[in-house]
Formats: sequence, structure tokens, C-alpha cells
Amino acid sequence: MIKFPDDFAWGAATSGPQSEGNFHKPNQNVFDYWFEKKPDDFYDGVGPDEASNFYNDYQKDIPLMAKAGIKALRTSIQWTRLIKNLDTGEVDPDGAEFYNNVINCLIENGIEPYINLFHFDLPVQLYQEFGGWESKHVTDLFADYAEKCFELFGDRVKNWFTFNEPKVILDGEYLYQFHYPLKVDGPASVQVAYNLNLASAKAIKRFRAWKAANNSDAKIGTILNLTPAYPASNDPEDVKAAKFATMWDDNMFLDPAVLGHFPEELVQILDNAGVLFQSTPEELKLIADNTVDVLGVNFYHPERVKRPSVSPKSLQDWMPDIYFDNYEMPGRVMNVDKGWEIYPQTLYDIAINIRDNYKNIPWFVSENGMGVSREERFMKDGVIQDDYRINFIHDHLVQLHKGIEAGSNCHGYFVWTAIDCWSWKNAYRNRYGLIRDDIHTQTKTLKKSGHWYAKVSSDNGF
Ligand code: BG6
Repeated sequence: MIKFPDDFAWGAATSGPQSEGNFHKPNQNVFDYWFEKKPDDFYDGVGPDEASNFYNDYQKDIPLMAKAGIKALRTSIQWTRLIKNLDTGEVDPDGAEFYNNVINCLIENGIEPYINLFHFDLPVQLYQEFGGWESKHVTDLFADYAEKCFELFGDRVKNWFTFNEPKVILDGEYLYQFHYPLKVDGPASVQVAYNLNLASAKAIKRFRAWKAANNSDAKIGTILNLTPAYPASNDPEDVKAAKFATMWDDNMFLDPAVLGHFPEELVQILDNAGVLFQSTPEELKLIADNTVDVLGVNFYHPERVKRPSVSPKSLQDWMPDIYFDNYEMPGRVMNVDKGWEIYPQTLYDIAINIRDNYKNIPWFVSENGMGVSREERFMKDGVIQDDYRINFIHDHLVQLHKGIEAGSNCHGYFVWTAIDCWSWKNAYRNRYGLIRDDIHTQTKTLKKSGHWYAKVSSDNGF
């Protein structure tokens, strides 16, 4: 039998915008706005208005999560729900009451709240007024909002996170057009990456001041999607391409968050290309002084790359992928619905990388899971027989356990997700939940994986 450490957290992750629905929100985020303008850009024309109705259903949903063995839930506060006036930071009383109720309900049901402050949901007003994450002013507004959260909920929340997958903000908003404003602007994406690291450090600084003043034992971290890049071959050019891809995709956030500085080699490459971010010595010191206590790692798939087919020296607009091409390894195991390779061994590699190169910082798997479309095809006797999901989670846990045995300081596993949720442009195309949501009736029922996870969680292994 595989046994996990005694204090291991068996959790699930979701986010405010993907679960709550936008009922009674005083402000719109970029997805609310985009859906209002162009609903056809979303799969089946389904937007974020109702999501999985958590705003109205949380009192029923949370006990159901407990039934699926979930002992910790990571969700996010929506900036656009909690803050009424985005310029002054005035709190919306209904928003504060809602999150107070959710946090209390989680605790009453024996579920530890892990609260994240930003999950892709930029208030659209801050984009329109200031250019969103291109603006350093927005990094200060974010720190103000974060501080409000610590003040309002810090008496009960012990695990805080500044961002979910900051890298995806660049990909979606500035490179590959799957988040509003759908820009293609490589150099702007570099500045946004810097500003997101700065915003995280500023929020951590406020947290530490709040923590000292309140004698709290809470911790703060960030959540990064790590996709270490494997080279297509041992050819030095493939190896070089993979090195750049890992620095750009992972280390640009991992290094400042844990080590307090940007990867030198990446900075050099960006500088040579004339696209390096604007920084000041004071900001770099602030980043150095405010690293995380804990790291959340979202892991779904590895990255495989080869040397670019066109030399980076060619005349072309600067984009990060002028330095590498994606490589489709023949015979790879795929989740074809999502288009992601399944390769659990990477989770072991990540564990060892954190152990050896990132101070063996305490970390946990903050998302891992399998999105499958048309899950009704697997329905039998009213239950989704999702053995593919059970196998996926099982195989990843085996690799994670191997990493822990090798000394990596991992203390939890959070499946994405508890209840099927709305997923941005893909809406409800891919289902990830341990609990099925019939979105037409908002009826929620455990899948086979929900029953299985409950047993793993109560046995602390399998
Ligand atoms: C993760 C995000 O990377 O992927 C989630 O943090 C998202 O917010 C999940 O829902 C799955 O994405 P998709 O597009 O397959 O539903």
C-alpha cells in the first residue's frame, strides 16, 4: 500500500469565476465583459453568468465535497465581487458577507479553506482605465485588495495565494488570444510577466505586515503551472530550445517567487533581443525581500520542444516561441479531448527539481486532473463511470509519492476539480469534476471517482 505523510492534505481546487456565477457582483471581470460583447466566442455560447451556481448552492455543494473526501478546498475570491469601488478599494458588503459565509461553511464541514486572490479575473475597468497588468498602478491596487482580504478573512484563513497560473495570463491575454483583450504583443507580455511578479511580492509584503500586527500563523504562496520542457533529442540545438522554454514558461515565475530574482540567462536573452522589462532597483529589492512561504504547483502535462524551424535571427516580430517549436513525440499517450499529453513521470521530475533547486520549499499539487468531454457516454445506473480519471489521478499520485519518498517536501494533492465547473472559453466542454453537475438542472452527484477519492482520502493512500 502507498501511504502519504500524516499531515498530507487531500483537497480539490476551483475558482470564484468558474463556480459562483456572477449573481449580484458589483463589477465585471474581463470574461463577464467579453461574454456580454461576443457570446459566440464561448463554447456552445455558454458564459460565466451561472457557472455551477455555487453562489446559491454553496450550502449544499460543500457537504457534497466533504462526501467526496475533500478535506481542503482551494477557491478564489473575485476582486469584482468583493470590491465595490475599484479605484478606492471600498468593500462591497454583500461580497464580504458571501465570502464570510463560504469560509464559515467550509470550516463547519471540516474543509480547510485555501484562498487564492486572482484566477485570471481582472476587473475589466482596470484594463480600460489603466491597461490592466501592463500598468504598475494596477499592481498597487492589487496589493490594496489583497490587504482587504487579509483583514476581512485572515482570522480564519491560514493558507493564502496571490495568483493562479500567472503565466497563463500572458498566454491568454498577450500571446495566443484566449483571454480578453486577445492581444498579440510579445514585448508587452514580458512587461506583464514582470508586473505580475511585482504584484505578488507587493501583496506578500502587505501580508507579512498584517501577519505581524495580528500575531497570525498563516502562510502565503503562489500557484504556478509548471510544464518542464523535454528536448526532442540530445542534439544541442534541441536542448537549447528546451532550456529556453523551461526558463520562459516556468522559471520566469518560479525563480522570483522562491529565490527572489529572475533567471539571469533569460534576462540576458530578453535584453539582447531589446524586449527586457522596465524595472527599478527598489522593485527588484521588493521582489527579493518578499518570496513565498509555500508553492502550489498545477500540473497537467509536460512540454516537448525542438529547435525552431526558422532561426530566431530571422526578421520577425518578437514572440517567445521564436526560440523553440513544439515537438509531437510519436506514440505519446494523449488526453485527446483536451489535446494534452499524459505523462505522470513529470510530477516526479518536478518534485526533484523543487528539492534540489528551489530550497526544498514546502509545496503541494494545487491542481491536477483530467478533462473529458461528453461524459454522459460513460453514465451507468445514474453514475459517471470515470475510470480514466481514477487511473489518471492514481498514476500521478504514484509518481508524487515517489518524489516524497526521495525527500521532496510536498504536503498535499488538490484535484481539479470538485464539481464540474465553467472553464473560460471552453465553458463546459471538458468536465473535470469528482462530482457531476447537470448544468441544465444544477443537480450535482458523485461520479465513481468521487467515491474512490473519498476512500483514498480517508485511508491516506491506496
Ligand atoms: C487550469 C486552470 O490550467 O486548467 C483552470 O487553472 C482551468 O482554471 C483548467 O479550468 C482546465 O482548462 P480547460 O480549458 O480544459 O477547461
